[in-house]
Parts: sequence; structure tokens; C-alpha cells
Amino acid sequence: MANLLTLDGINQYYGESHTLWDLKLAIKEGSITCLMGRNGVGKSTLLKSIMGLEKIRKGSITFRQHELSKSTAETRAKLKIGYVPQGREIFSQLSITENLQTGLISSGSKKLPDIIFELFPVLKEMKNRRGGDLSGGQQQQLAIGRALAIEPELLILDEPTEGIQPNIVREIGDIIIRLNQEFGLTVLLVEQKLPFARRVGSHFCIMEKGRNVAVGSIEKLDDELIDRYLKV
Ligand SMILES: Nc1ncnc2c1ncn2[C@@H]1O[C@H](COP(=O)(O)OP(=O)(O)O)[C@@H](O)[C@H]1O
Ligand SMILES: [Mg+2]
Repeated sequence: MANLLTLDGINQYYGESHTLWDLKLAIKEGSITCLMGRNGVGKSTLLKSIMGLEKIRKGSITFRQHELSKSTAETRAKLKIGYVPQGREIFSQLSITENLQTGLISSGSKKLPDIIFELFPVLKEMKNRRGGDLSGGQQQQLAIGRALAIEPELLILDEPTEGIQPNIVREIGDIIIRLNQEFGLTVLLVEQKLPFARRVGSHFCIMEKGRNVAVGSIEKLDDELIDRYLKV
């Protein structure tokens, strides 16, 4: 499989604090890659750097044939990279429909794609409800729906199961698998839960202290790696 996204020599700083170190990673087209690692190792910073929400000081980010490291977040969305931030960032005062429409802003289109309501019928049923009135699981569905508004080819999700009830975690896993298998999306997601990563993921990447320390297909994620890099 060809690489859809290639990161090379990524170095990122918050002020003087060096957060990502010479980070290299290739995401294969059609894969579901689980980005793992303990709290504070730089997983969210890496995703934000891919999205153009944090600036990198050095390195290249290549999506298909496009070099993205200097382009704006809007340009990256236009190239069909969708993003679901950690903590979901739903607008609590806006309706479900209005929240979904914010996902269209960078695309110039006005119409929400049908796939959103096909995957999440609840978003149609509750379309006039305010974001703030939804449960955590429904807000996560809304956040994924909003990211699907641009019909992404690459979907990036930051801890989509954080703080969500187990039955909804399973549903979100099913949705991610469907997006990948039925709709052909490549997925990069941060995940802390091992059973979820093993069920949903095809590949893993482990980070420690801002570096990529292990990658492989998901069945290579063994106890030694888990003890060394993931146990708290
Ligand atoms: N906006 C910020 N300003 C300064 N430091 C930050 C900022 N965001 C994150 N950090 C720091 O960068 C490091 C990596 O954070 P983060 O990428 O959120 O880690 P993870 O997602 O793996 O838990 C942490 O030490 C964190 O405190
Ligand atoms: Mg994080």
C-alpha cells in the first residue's frame, strides 16, 4: 500500500519547550493507525501539527503529493483531511445542524453529505437540539459528523472514546471500521484503551517524550512494548 501521509523530521516547540523531536511516521492508504503513548508525550501536539493548528519549526508533512508544512489549516481541510479534536469542542449554544455546518466552512459547500445521517441517524432525529444538551457519546458522534462534512479521505481523531460509556465506545469503534472498510477512509487516531486499539486498528505507533519509538502492524503490539511504553 502507498503512503497517504508522510511525516519526516518533525520538530515542534511551545515557546522554548521542545515537544516533538525528529519525528518520522508514514500512514499507509487504507490503514487505521492507533497513535499511543502515556499522557503528555505529544500525541495531540502531533495531530495539531498535521492539521496546521500548531506550527512546526522543522520537518515535512506530505499528504499525497502536497507538502503541507507551510499551508494553512483551511488548505489542509480542502485537501480532505478531517479532524476530531480531543474533548470534542462542540458549540453548546448551537444546534446540531449548526454545529455540523461549521464543518463546512473551509469547503465552500453548503450541503451536508448524506453519509453523516446514514452513520448517525440520531443527529437527524435531534437536529434542532443544542449541542450542550447532548450526552457525551452523542457529542462525540456530532464531532465525528462535523469532521465528515468535508468528505475527508484522511480522518484524524484525538481520543474519540475518552469519557464515553462502554456501549457507545463499541458503537464508535464500529463506525470507524465502517468508515474505513465501506467508505475507504484512512484513519489516524489517538487511543489509550488497548482492547479498542486491537479491535479497530490495523497499525500502531507509540510515542514517548515527543519521539516515535515503535511502529508496526497491530498484532506486533506485544506485552514488552505495553509494559515499557503504555503501562502507567
Ligand atoms: N498549548 C500548549 N502550550 C505549552 N505547552 C503545551 C501546550 N499544549 C501541550 N503542551 C505540553 O506539551 C506536551 C505534550 O502535550 P500533548 O501533545 O497534549 O500530549 P498528549 O496528547 O500525548 O497527552 C506536554 O508536556 C504538555 O504539557
Ligand atoms: Mg492528548
